[in-house]
Parts: sequence; C-alpha cells; structure tokens
Amino acid sequence: MTASSMEELVSLCKRRGFIFQSNDIYGGIKGLYDYGPMGVELKNNLKQAWWKSMIYERDDIEGLDASILSAPVVLQQSGHEDTFTDPLVDCKNCKSRWRADQLSDKKCPECKSDNLTEPRPFNLMFKTAIGPVDDGSSFAYLRPETCQQIFTNFKNIIDSTSRVVPFGIAQIGKAFRNEITPRNFIFRVREFEQMELEFFVKPGSDEEWHKYWVEKRIKWWESQGVNKKNLHTVDVDKSELSHYSKATVDIMYDFPHGKEELEGIANRTDFDLGSHTKNQKDFDIAANVKKNEHSTTKLGVQNLEEKTSFIPYVIEPSAGVDRGVLAILNEAFTNEEIANGNSRIVLKLKPHLSPIKAAVIPLKKNNDQIVEKAKKIKTQLQNLGLGRVMLENSGNIGKNYRRHDEIGTPICVTVDFETLEDDSVTIRDRDSMNQERVLIKDLNQFYQKYFH
Ligand code: GAP
Repeated sequence: MTASSMEELVSLCKRRGFIFQSNDIYGGIKGLYDYGPMGVELKNNLKQAWWKSMIYERDDIEGLDASILSAPVVLQQSGHEDTFTDPLVDCKNCKSRWRADQLSDKKCPECKSDNLTEPRPFNLMFKTAIGPVDDGSSFAYLRPETCQQIFTNFKNIIDSTSRVVPFGIAQIGKAFRNEITPRNFIFRVREFEQMELEFFVKPGSDEEWHKYWVEKRIKWWESQGVNKKNLHTVDVDKSELSHYSKATVDIMYDFPHGKEELEGIANRTDFDLGSHTKNQKDFDIAANVKKNEHSTTKLGVQNLEEKTSFIPYVIEPSAGVDRGVLAILNEAFTNEEIANGNSRIVLKLKPHLSPIKAAVIPLKKNNDQIVEKAKKIKTQLQNLGLGRVMLENSGNIGKNYRRHDEIGTPICVTVDFETLEDDSVTIRDRDSMNQERVLIKDLNQFYQKYFH
C-alpha cells in the first residue's frame, strides 16, 4: 500500500518527527528541509544500505568523502558553467518566476496570465566567497553534483589503492542547485544529498556495463522495499541528454505527485576525466571533451598488454537520497483496517531502514523494578549494534503502540509484573500485531532474526 496523497506523507513526517520545513519559525525557506529525530535515522539507514551494497559487499569499489566547495575551474572544465542552466521566464503581470519547460500551457501558474518574458538561461549553481574579502575575486561554487571531486581525485585513488579498470569510486554527500521552482516536498529541493558511483571501464565495454548497472540498481531499490510495479525505466531522449552523456537510463518511481526520476544512470564516456586531463593530445578522446590548459595531471591509465595509456569511460548510477527517502516512506505508508471497525497508520519499513529498531516499554512508569529491568533490556538490545533502541517510559501502552506503528518500529518489547517473576517479556510484532511471550535469555536471537 502507498499514501493516497503527498499531504498524507507531509503530515506524518511533521507529526512524527521525520521532516520539517527549514527555518520554520521564521516562515520557512522554499526548497529547504530539515530531517528530525526519525528522519535522520531513516536517511542514515538508507545511505548505510547503499554504502554496504557498493563498498562492503563488493571488491571493486572504493569510497570517498570530498569537499563541497569547489574551485571554479573544476566546474568550468566539467561544462557546468556553460551548460548547467534551466530556462527562466518572468510573469510580467504578477512578477513570479518559472521554469519555461514546466509550463504546459505557456501561462503563469500563479495568475494565469500569458504575459511572460522570453525564456533565458539561468545557471543553477550557488556561489560563495572564499577568504575574508568578498570582492568577487575569489569564490567557490557549492557543488551541483558530488561526482566532480571523484574525477579530480581519480589519480590520488588509483595511486593509493593500485586499482585497475574496471573499478569504481563511490560517494555520498550534499549537492546544491538553485532550483527556480522547488516543489513536491523533498522531491525537488535546493540542498539535497546524492549517492553517486563512478564506475570506470575500458572504452568498448561501456555499453555492457551500463546495462549491468541499470539492472543492479533496480534490484537494489526493490531490496529496500520498493515495489517493482512502481519502478520504471526510461531511455532519455538524445535531445534531452546532459552535455556529458552518451546515453542515460532514468529509473522512474510513481511518487504521490506522479511518475518522476528517482535515479539516473549515465554513460559519461571519457568526457569528465578527459576534460580534467593535462595534455589531452596524448589521448584519443571524445570530440566534446573540453580543452584544458589548467590541469597538472593526466587522468589516464595504462593498457599493460598494448603498452599504451587511455582514459577510461565511466558509468554513473546517481541516486537522490531525499527522493529515495520519499519513495521509501511512500511505499511503507499503510492505512489499514483493524478490529472493531478501527484503522491504523503503519509504516511497513524494511527493519534495516526503521528509525527505531525496538521500543522497550515498562508497563508501569512509576515502578522502579519494572523500569530498571526495561532499562537493562534496552541496553542489552542497543549493544547488539543494529541501530537505535528506544526506552518508552510514558506509561501509556496504547499510545506507544500507535506511535511506533507510525514510525515503523518492527517490535515493541513490554516489561510487566510477570517479567519480574519469570524473566519473560511480551513482544508485539508491528505488521501482524501478534503478541508473544519470549524469555529474556532468548530475546537477542529473537530480535536479531528481524534483520536477516
Ligand atoms: N551526477 C549526475 C547528476 O547529478 P542528475 O540527474 O542531475 O545527475 C542525479 O541528478 C539524482 O539527484 C537525480 O536522479 C535525483 O534523484 C537527485 N536530484 C537532482 N536534483 C535534485 C533536486 N533538486 N532535489 C532533490 N534531488 C535531486
């Protein structure tokens, strides 16, 4: 089951501490959001699952965490200064601003006037001053995609790890885009996170690797609980490809506001490594690679059999973390009927993504013996290192169950008077709502089973 509207998700996110409008108490800023106590756990769990699948479960990918502030020359060479634009139009009637390519009827969505300016390119990159004097002479860009620092660190990484192609470099981090019309909650925002892999391959093997990564990435989203029927692939039309791409496949998801891009998988050829390379004439490179007079480094690798050097091609699966969180929340959102004509909202998250892994609830909040026992059980489960375990000491078990259903906690562990006698607890399963009695000595094993 999924949410029936975006409003339903936005409301749950605010009510239960997943996501808040940024700068809320001052009226908020469009396109910026903050992740609350539950949101930060969910987001970290999703990033951790991606990292695990890319780095720990494979033997051909290295990790990186590079700077956000980028030297302008990097983004000149990457082509972003020239081409990273959206077509901007102004409404002459109400003075609002829009992206021309998102106006279906060429009318202002605000006042319906057709008195609009001609579209003009608007660069989406944010700039900031470097150093104490803001006179425009020294500035940096806030990176609009995380991958450029993967390309500029390419030589550092192969020199320090002795990697040979095919191999990849993965990074998770913030990216910034001055979107003209941020919208649809955390779907299109101005500050977001990306999970990007740059997988370097021999030219000629690129198309096969491209197919490989499209299949791999769809399977991964399914393994995070996204229903196959809500995922679709689209071959991006040649006329809409980014300046660096030979071919891109978008993984689209049925978001509450419609079918839109969740992740893009591009064949960037040798465009980026070529554009950042010194003495490009030494290499056989694509025609659109940008001439370079600044780099000090050759980003080529050896072909040991032929005793030549070449610039690898790169396949790039690039996923938005925030769009991932939105898709996962939507997939997990379930409004179901329960006994006696009642209903409940429950987030049926995969347990590894749940913000809280288990809630330990003392039946009586004022009973020292019960509370002490509950604290001990909380520490016992917490020490298993599977994520956050919460002690709930409000004394209202019904309310606790409702709250933990809505934030997707896989199990609630209740400590009561019987526990003091026989060292057993009641476990309530989130999805079935079944309750069973488990001995504390068996609890670790019982709990760990949820995460396999
Ligand atoms: N390095 C390639 C790249 O940045 P992209 O298609 O522009 O490609 C990759 O972005 C992913 O980043 C998208 O599929 C989307 O999930 C996410 N993304 C892009 N712009 C976004 C925005 N304004 N807000 C939230 N996520 C965004």
